[in-house]
Amino acid sequence: MMESDEDTDSDELVIADQRTETNTLVLMLNELVNRCRPLPDNATLLVLGAGFSGSRIAALARSLGTRVLTTCRLPDDGDNDQNLRFDSQLGRIPTAEQLRGVTHLISTIAPERDGQDPVLRCLGDQLQAMPLEWVGYLSTTGVYGDRQGGWVSENDQPTPTQERSKRRLACEQTWLASNLPVQILRLPGIYGPGRSPFQAIRRGEIRPIDKPNHVFSRVHVEDVAGACIHLIDRASHGQRPTVVNVCDDLPAAPADVQRFASELMGLSLPASRSFNEAFESMSPMARSFWAENRRVRNTLLCDELGYQLLHPNYRQGMRDCWEQEGLNPRESTSTAA
Ligand SMILES: NC(=O)c1ccc[n+]([C@@H]2O[C@H](COP(=O)([O-])OP(=O)(O)OC[C@H]3O[C@@H](n4cnc5c(N)ncnc54)[C@H](OP(=O)(O)O)[C@@H]3O)[C@@H](O)[C@H]2O)c1
Repeated sequence: MMESDEDTDSDELVIADQRTETNTLVLMLNELVNRCRPLPDNATLLVLGAGFSGSRIAALARSLGTRVLTTCRLPDDGDNDQNLRFDSQLGRIPTAEQLRGVTHLISTIAPERDGQDPVLRCLGDQLQAMPLEWVGYLSTTGVYGDRQGGWVSENDQPTPTQERSKRRLACEQTWLASNLPVQILRLPGIYGPGRSPFQAIRRGEIRPIDKPNHVFSRVHVEDVAGACIHLIDRASHGQRPTVVNVCDDLPAAPADVQRFASELMGLSLPASRSFNEAFESMSPMARSFWAENRRVRNTLLCDELGYQLLHPNYRQGMRDCWEQEGLNPRESTSTAA
């Protein structure tokens, strides 16, 4: 079993909506393509796991002219040259021939329950034989544990408290010990079109929780993709810090994000509850999120490595989701006209 959604770092309700996926990819690319430098001409990028983040990374790299291979557990149309089948649980593994030419790799696949990394367990030997110039591993800021609302950077030692974060840190360490040119990207809660609170607000499912001074960091999925491509470029110029936080500028309370989203919709949210009141009916997973409070710094990514966030805070990010999800009546009307 994989960890899957356990790694979501915030408690905002996120709802996947497949209908928005295609439009979303097209819209995001124009902005990002203008900002990103292409990979080298001879590069082939392998994206292991073409889920929410992986599909954006792949789409962006393709738009920049790079040859990209992705993997899925169940490709809709079976294996093909570009979308390979990889399922660590079922032992379905791409062949060396299918992976020929890969120079850059990003793994978006979470650890297995026993703490092993599925990619290194199944493909580790193959990776050693490939001419890899850059290997990215999507990890989580959960490895920092609870900081009681304080800021945390890559210079701080990880002190994970949740078991899943301990397993994640173990996977990071296995990647770093692999002798591959690995860079760890630590992500907080990932949101974006298709993973936003709008549908849940519309259905009346969100009741904000007030817990003073408790915040979560987050990142828009387009910035996950943009940062990946930017880090590949920086690495090709000799700048490859081992660990980079990929998050926006403004850690904020979930209630603030939800209220902002509801204002965009012209709806009001139900009255908020205190944390103590909400705690009684919370799932163990939600309780574990609220057990940690930290503000994640992006100084290394944005100041030292020069990445310019497309969505520096949740307000810009939520406006973007609102428009891209096509739920905005004014937006739909003007598009149709
Ligand atoms: N979501 C968050 O808020 C968040 C926050 C911090 C860190 N992270 C971590 O960041 C990474 C990317 O997150 P995401 O939300 O983009 O992930 P996602 O949408 O859940 O995509 C994960 C991908 O992993 C693939 N996968 C899962 N189990 C697999 C297995 N046993 N063998 C092969 N492939 C497998 C899935 O394949 P299929 O497409 O076939 O399902 C999917 O493509 C993950 O490691 C996640 O834990 C996520």
